[in-house]
Amino acid sequence: MPWIIKYRPKHVDEVVNQDKAKQALLEWLKSWDQGAPGKKSVLLHGPPGCGKTSLVEAVARTLGYELFEMNASDSRRKEDIERLAKVASQTSGLRARRKVILLDEVDGLDPRADLGGVEAILEVIRNTRNPIVMTANNPYREHLKPLRDVSEVIAMDRLRETDVVTVLKRICQAEKLQCDQEALKEIAKRSEGDLRSAINDLEAAAAFDGRVTLETVKAISTYRNRVYAPWEALRKIFSSKYVFQAREAITSTDLTPDEMKTWINEHIPSWYDNPEEAWRAYEALSRADQYFGRIVKTQNWDLLSYALDMMGPGVAFARKTYKGKFVAFKMPERIKLLAETRKSREYREALAEHLAKRLLTSKAAIKSDVIPYLRIIFTSNPKYAAGIAKAYGLTEELVTWLAGPRAKEVLSYFKKPARKSKST
Ligand SMILES: Nc1ncnc2c1ncn2[C@@H]1O[C@H](COP(=O)(O)OP(=O)(O)O)[C@@H](O)[C@H]1O
Ligand SMILES: [Mg+2]
Repeated sequence: MPWIIKYRPKHVDEVVNQDKAKQALLEWLKSWDQGAPGKKSVLLHGPPGCGKTSLVEAVARTLGYELFEMNASDSRRKEDIERLAKVASQTSGLRARRKVILLDEVDGLDPRADLGGVEAILEVIRNTRNPIVMTANNPYREHLKPLRDVSEVIAMDRLRETDVVTVLKRICQAEKLQCDQEALKEIAKRSEGDLRSAINDLEAAAAFDGRVTLETVKAISTYRNRVYAPWEALRKIFSSKYVFQAREAITSTDLTPDEMKTWINEHIPSWYDNPEEAWRAYEALSRADQYFGRIVKTQNWDLLSYALDMMGPGVAFARKTYKGKFVAFKMPERIKLLAETRKSREYREALAEHLAKRLLTSKAAIKSDVIPYLRIIFTSNPKYAAGIAKAYGLTEELVTWLAGPRAKEVLSYFKKPARKSKST
């Protein structure tokens, strides 16, 4: 089970910081007990990964309430809204457990839709007999105003670095994991208060070599902050004036190192018409390839920065003189093939559906929290990935999609019958 789900707080006391929000939420729920709630809904807001969803879940559990949870982005269909309305309007009989409704991530509501949109939710709130908590990253979006007006608005704070470290330490202890203090601080610093990304980083670092050091953390985070389309990154690499630009560009996409290599490989000839420059660029690329090979074999992640240096700056500065040049970028043949046959979207959807059932959480949460992290693991640590695939009961198709260029390796472990042997 992914750690962000495994280590969700089970009790309000495990929710770090956020005392004001805890207090406010508990008091508001108490007002329902006394029969006269001021407002029938709460809008709980704060930056991503500060604990909005966790807080509501923990409060429900601590007070012994039954939680009905729905992601607002999953409320598009008529059946979903009707079900929500029905649950909300039911009184709990004398003996039944009290209920609280969580409508998660209402920022995702469609401003224009009548169905599953703000208007439909307002109607549910008007008729509800049970407390409704909504969450949002940004409650001040224009289209949320009507919800804001009818709700008690409760703010949660961005978590501090020390809060993040506290939670990471707790996880390290529970996992009996050797974690350097410096590494945890680095993760916390990079997370900017987002515990979700911090916990994912911790798990990814642990998956790489079984302990968490500053080096692994640095290696992992070169894979983060992917923003550019491949051709944008490619243009940045080839036209960079400084080493750092080429270096940044190389890790700024969604591509695995292997795919990036293919992209660069195919564009060297169109970028360099001078044969000697082209030769030097190919030379740098093949050096990068050797480093990647060695990393895979030895799991020595220190080599990663050399590999990336060869692939980015090494290729970019193969030129002798810089002249601004326009090159039309095209999708490499091999990748085009993969993209077409993979039907990425459908696989992502199928995987989200499968995991949502297994992990008892929403599809939206799986897509934003779990799948990106699985993709890192599946393209970098085949053996570990195969273990995850077995544990989740994934199909070969899904494994193939997740692992992309490393599908063969993951599948070879995946298909091996489980044997009792020394682990690691
Ligand atoms: N204040 C907190 N205390 C303990 N764990 C937290 C806290 N905030 C977030 N987490 C952890 O981070 C992950 C994401 O939290 P979540 O509640 O889903 O964030 P949000 O809903 O605000 O985006 C969860 O796994 C949770 O365990
Ligand atoms: Mg949430």
